[in-house]
Amino acid sequence: MRRLNVELAARSYPILIGRGLLGRAELLLDHLRSPRVALVSNVTVAPIYGNAFIKALEGVGVGVTAIILPDGEAYKTWESLNRIHDSLLAARCDRATTIVAIGGGVIGDLAGFAAATYQRGVPFIQIPTTLLSQVDSSVGGKTGINHARGKNMVGAFWQPQLVLADTDTLQTLPPRELSAGLAEVIKYGLIRDLPFLDWLETNMDGLMARDGDLLAEAVERSCANKAEVVAADEFETAKDGGRALLNLGHTFGHAIETGMGYGEWLHGEAVAAGTVMAAE
Ligand code: NAD
Ligand code: GLY
Repeated sequence: MRRLNVELAARSYPILIGRGLLGRAELLLDHLRSPRVALVSNVTVAPIYGNAFIKALEGVGVGVTAIILPDGEAYKTWESLNRIHDSLLAARCDRATTIVAIGGGVIGDLAGFAAATYQRGVPFIQIPTTLLSQVDSSVGGKTGINHARGKNMVGAFWQPQLVLADTDTLQTLPPRELSAGLAEVIKYGLIRDLPFLDWLETNMDGLMARDGDLLAEAVERSCANKAEVVAADEFETAKDGGRALLNLGHTFGHAIETGMGYGEWLHGEAVAAGTVMAAE
């Protein structure tokens, strides 16, 4: 298992990366405020990973309230956020309940915003299962939902207690989603890590073939870059460079996503096209 740390003083947290981590529910125990979690997932990921993980949590003495949402960018909305809040209240979840997101960036952003807002803020754990969410969205504390007038326009900075990235989950990812995730990986090479860009060019075939060791290496090097950027400029206020660098291609990309209708282009696809446009 590879381990990194996001250094944010009192809000610091570890990123654990490796194979088979979903089978190790005990890794969460040190990061829970009480033995109770609300697990947020969607109808695609829950049957593949969520249900087994719930059993694993119960096996180590953790009570679970499962909140399963529809799948897709089109559901990153107030309605889904309300569904999470409704379920938390119905299950009488209190401030010590940890919200655990298991899924891609849509679930992570939604569950994180629910954690930031439920009872003025409850603990949060990210279990990203797409390449994009393992290398980007699960790290750094940006949470939120889309608005009809713009992507991610409503949200909060809310750091997780832990990020647990099981790279085995990438084996079930649809090919289009793998490629979309690679756009955010390549981004780190372009903005601040040329040796990583060289490494990606050398190993792209192996990454596309889902070689487990190469994927773990790509996730670790991406997260190391993101952790450094976030530690230096958590709230994206630096005048030059800083966290805004992570938004390379995103101004065009978000316009494509909003203009085409959420879910028409995948986020990573829009970022890839936006990066080419920004470069031009
Ligand atoms: P996604 O969450 O829509 O997931 C992609 C698809 O893969 C979904 O259909 C999902 O159900 C499915 N899926 C997830 N894991 C799977 C697995 N292991 N096997 C099979 N199917 C699986 O998309 P995404 O690319 O993960 O995330 C995109 C979202 O992340 C966007 O909303 C974007 O704005 C956000 N984002 C946020 C940040 C941030 O810093 N918070 C950064 C980048 C992107
Ligand atoms: N994905 C951009 C950021 O986290 O700042």
